[in-house]
Amino acid sequence: MSMVHFDLGPLLQRFGREPHALVQVLREAQALHGWLPRDLLVQIAQALGLSLAHVEGVASFYRFIHLRPVGRYRVLFSDNITDRMRGSVALLTDLCERLGVAPGQVSADGRVSVDRCSCTGLCDQGPALLINHHQVITRLDATRVAQLADLIRADVPVTRWPADWFAVEDTIRRADVLLGVPFAPGSAIAAALARGPQGLLDEMQRSQLRGRGGAGFATGTKWSLCREASGGTRYVVCNADEGEPGTFKDRVLLARHADAVFEGMTVAAFAIGATQGLVYLRGEYRFLLEHLHAVLQRRRQQGLLGGAILGQTGFSFDIDIHVGAGAYVCGEESALIESLEGKRGTPRIRPPFPVEHGYLGQPTVVNNVETFCAASRIALNGGAWWAGIGTVKSTGTKIHSVSGDCERPGLYEYPFGTRVGRILEDCGARDTQAVQVGGPSGVCLSAFEFGRRIAFEDVPTAGAFMVFDRSRDMFEVARNFAHFFAHESCGFCTPCRVGTELVVRRMDKLADGHGSRHDVDVLFELDRLMHTATHCGLGASACNPLRDTIAKFRPAYERHLKSLHFEPGFDLDAELSIARQMTGRDDALAHLENHS
Ligand SMILES: Cc1cc2nc3c(=O)[nH]c(=O)nc-3n(C[C@H](O)[C@H](O)[C@H](O)COP(=O)(O)O)c2cc1C
Ligand code: SF4
Repeated sequence: MSMVHFDLGPLLQRFGREPHALVQVLREAQALHGWLPRDLLVQIAQALGLSLAHVEGVASFYRFIHLRPVGRYRVLFSDNITDRMRGSVALLTDLCERLGVAPGQVSADGRVSVDRCSCTGLCDQGPALLINHHQVITRLDATRVAQLADLIRADVPVTRWPADWFAVEDTIRRADVLLGVPFAPGSAIAAALARGPQGLLDEMQRSQLRGRGGAGFATGTKWSLCREASGGTRYVVCNADEGEPGTFKDRVLLARHADAVFEGMTVAAFAIGATQGLVYLRGEYRFLLEHLHAVLQRRRQQGLLGGAILGQTGFSFDIDIHVGAGAYVCGEESALIESLEGKRGTPRIRPPFPVEHGYLGQPTVVNNVETFCAASRIALNGGAWWAGIGTVKSTGTKIHSVSGDCERPGLYEYPFGTRVGRILEDCGARDTQAVQVGGPSGVCLSAFEFGRRIAFEDVPTAGAFMVFDRSRDMFEVARNFAHFFAHESCGFCTPCRVGTELVVRRMDKLADGHGSRHDVDVLFELDRLMHTATHCGLGASACNPLRDTIAKFRPAYERHLKSLHFEPGFDLDAELSIARQMTGRDDALAHLENHS
């Protein structure tokens, strides 16, 4: 059989022929062809000098890359708990019925596939969906779903769908020094140049800024370690993967404050001596790409990127954007670097840390979007200014992505040390039962903890703030998070790959009404195992929601316990109903419970 030929020329021209271009080439080849047939993979492998097995291995890792035919219209419903609370499950079912397709399948005519994906980062305006991995539709309701089905059935191209469907709002409810103070492009670079690399590093240390991606490592120390590390080329990487369900602050920062983010990367480059920066933009935020490229281009024209920045002949730095392909684990910095290098996003063994051995084996600084925003302000205003905001161990402000049961979802920026209850009051939350701070990997707080403060000393956070009122079943919240972790486990290590799946099975068993105390004990045991035996933070934190909700919302679990004794995970008597029908026997003794 002859091979179908694809014209890869334009893609190779754009991304190059180096192996690290692989994920980008796969993504864009798929954007052109819909999915990736084997012939296309063979050509990509040949063009990049890789084996077909390697290319297939990488392609099969990413959920947004398809090795089998998918619908010409590919619909992915965001499956975060906040989307579910706004009715996403019923809307997905409705759309599938209207289009005559089962969830997860391709319609018989190849027109459409409808499925779920992890949180799309639009929790303030959900339920949301992704269309063709390229655009998002927010604020779904029954009317919009009916219209969507009509447009798909009539084969109307997405470019001709109502433009307002694709509007993404940047709702900023409370602004402080990052979101509220205008930022003049170039001002932080000028201040950094005036201070010199060591002077800038001193200010970063003085600020005591801690990373906003979750782990809270001191940014000044990270930059200093990278500057001191031996190696030739250095890199600055911006982690814009924002995969933690319930988090959307980086989306808004990139949409509204891209200059501050890019300027933070540029001053980091000046401090460590880097010439190349990379933004790792999550695939779900592909819709921001053109805007970000436009800002980069403008900054080049303004002399803020490229060669001789602000006329400084010894300082050149530029930024490229790499788009992810649907893998939460790629937010973990070493997995992110693997993905940037065109590989599967498997977390590396650390040490060595990226500051010594990062992108292409070179010293690399990886920071969160918000961290770079803060860094540009610190370069401008000095470390003491930043350290004067917040608490002793948590300086500056923190941006919270508030969603769930509240009147005013959106972004709220507060100095560290703010009470949880204050945020609830400000966002119009009523009758609140629980708040999930920091997303599923974070902590679940019950009402008696709302006096606690957001700070590394008390309640740390990567930014999500999901509110649940008393009508919500906290067991179902934890079950949704358990499914998320099982879905996103990269499968590299057994305790996480198997453990997350076992947790899901036990939770589903409880939900189906077959659970006993024994199952809850097993869940405790799985939590202990996974917390200590997994390779990266995903597995280690996968049971956090389970542990918190069992401890704080025990009645939610008790309601699902049918029996004090162990029960199998399926209903044997119900399974035998077909046999009873076939034999025509359905008297009392044909049911198991009547046998002692
Ligand atoms: C499973 C997992 C997912 C992560 N996802 C993100 C993410 O989406 N964005 C982020 O900035 N950090 C994420 N992190 C933390 C990064 O590994 C890293 O600590 C961070 O990017 C460093 O930047 P910072 O010092 O500015 O926080 C994740 C960590 C783990 C274990
Ligand atoms: S803990 Fe989970 S996500 Fe992390 S390496 Fe192991 S399998 Fe992959």
